[in-house]
Amino acid sequence: MTDKEMLQKAAEARQLAYIPYSHFAVGAALLTKSGKVFTGCNIESASYSPTNCAERTAIFKAVSEGEREFSEIAIVGGKEGEKPAGMCPPCGVCRQVMMEFCDPHIFRVILEDDAGNPKSILLEQLLPLGFGPENLS
Ligand code: THU
Repeated sequence: MTDKEMLQKAAEARQLAYIPYSHFAVGAALLTKSGKVFTGCNIESASYSPTNCAERTAIFKAVSEGEREFSEIAIVGGKEGEKPAGMCPPCGVCRQVMMEFCDPHIFRVILEDDAGNPKSILLEQLLPLGFGPENLS
């Protein structure tokens, strides 16, 4: 699967975002090492804090289906009803959840730049010196 195709899957998932409060729609597409794609969107709550980001929706869907090994995630986000303009980097909580299941030296985060082209960055660049399962072993 190309980075462009991954971004396309994230854009499709974005259409399902439940965003009555922020009106900011995010979609994610997560690739397992076995070659399966799990998608997710952000899901908000009237009490705000239970809101789940698109990235965590995709990761939790995959883990709950027995998948724990991932190679990359594509993320697309922007204002509801508008074409996303520029990158939507993952929030800190999602970076930490990625750290739980993904090797930070290998796991790639694919974003879409202002021109609509894929830009990828390693988790270790997004979460330098991250605390993860290795630290407890
Ligand atoms: N959001 C995501 O889905 N992913 C991120 O990494 C950044 C933020 C969502 C959460 C909330 O529903 C909305 O975007 C505004 O913060």
